[in-house]
Amino acid sequence: MAKKFEGRVALVTGGASGIGRVGAQIFAREGAKVIVSTDANIKGGEETVKLIKNAGGEATFIKCDVSRSAEVEAMIDNCVKIYGRLDYAFNNAGIGPDGKRVPFYNVADCPEEIWDRTLDVNLKGVFLCLKYEIRQMLKQKRGAIVNTASTGAMKAVPGFAAYDASKAGLLGLTRVAALECATSGIRINTICPGPTDRTLLVENLTSTIIKGKGEMAKDRSRIGTVYYNRGVVHGIISVEAIRKAQEKYGKKPLTGEQVRWGLENLNIDAKRLKELGAVGFMQPLKVSCLDHEGGGAVRFQQWDGQRWVVITDWISSDQSIVRPMIEESAAKYAKEKGITPRDCSAAS
Ligand SMILES: NC(=O)c1ccc[n+]([C@@H]2O[C@H](COP(=O)([O-])OP(=O)(O)OC[C@H]3O[C@@H](n4cnc5c(N)ncnc54)[C@H](O)[C@@H]3O)[C@@H](O)[C@H]2O)c1
Repeated sequence: MAKKFEGRVALVTGGASGIGRVGAQIFAREGAKVIVSTDANIKGGEETVKLIKNAGGEATFIKCDVSRSAEVEAMIDNCVKIYGRLDYAFNNAGIGPDGKRVPFYNVADCPEEIWDRTLDVNLKGVFLCLKYEIRQMLKQKRGAIVNTASTGAMKAVPGFAAYDASKAGLLGLTRVAALECATSGIRINTICPGPTDRTLLVENLTSTIIKGKGEMAKDRSRIGTVYYNRGVVHGIISVEAIRKAQEKYGKKPLTGEQVRWGLENLNIDAKRLKELGAVGFMQPLKVSCLDHEGGGAVRFQQWDGQRWVVITDWISSDQSIVRPMIEESAAKYAKEKGITPRDCSAAS
């Protein structure tokens, strides 16, 4: 079967790992000759070339820091010298806060050099690539370019000022370039990936945020993460339960039994959520002796590469199916452990 990109030449910046490596492999699998490019991770770039060649494809590695004009110009020249043309470009090289290579900084703390470096690679880097790629593609009267931005271009994430600004800037840059080239046979687009597995960025993020040994306590960028938010929800529930119990038992230290009464009579309704400043942060919660789930509604979140984003409304389980299963399982457990189930009719 004919391959989609047979006889074509593709350039992939940031091809030493992650999204770029996979992109380069796909171009090669579809028959393109691929220039794999990256700045410092030469070993990774050469590894991508090796993977492509081992799979029967054609690729060459060119070292290039995309933030340096002369290096970008030389990369495009070399691409044309080696393979005679440039049909596709995937301007994918980028850096962002991951807690390892680039720290997280709030705007008020962000050192200028982090801002400059991020903008230099993510925005100026793509500008320089576009500049020289378009010049070559105009000679050929055709071409297609894809830039990698991020969902961060559209969503604010604390600690990601330089990154989000660079990626948002990329959207504007792409629109202008696409319009300018619209009648020249050159298509220019930007993709905004969300969470992407097996990239250094995500590996570093998860190892610093999820497996960190208390380091996040010093790092305000954890605010808004799912773990942080879960802690806040637990805090709200505990405090509200104690408040409820103190209404009944008085403002004094409470026993475990009394706090349990508070928990089983908890009613954080829409009005209370508003008073707490937690509208949209957690579902209204009405707990009873019979129902410790408080309705059991869930919302799904998705990791977008920088933070958890809520992607659904509250979804309640079908209690007519789930409840009997819970009761059956609870009865079995009580029997196994010799527990006498509480009588909830006496619990209010
Ligand atoms: N991983 C994600 O979840 C995610 C989400 C949204 C957007 N992105 C974007 O996708 C792109 C690829 O990132 P990834 O996740 O594969 O991460 P990655 O760190 O594995 O890859 C980034 C690549 O860019 C290269 N690079 C960095 N600075 C460079 C420079 N100055 N010149 C040339 N190359 C340079 C690196 O060597 C590497 O090959 C980036 O633009 C990133 O912002 C990633």
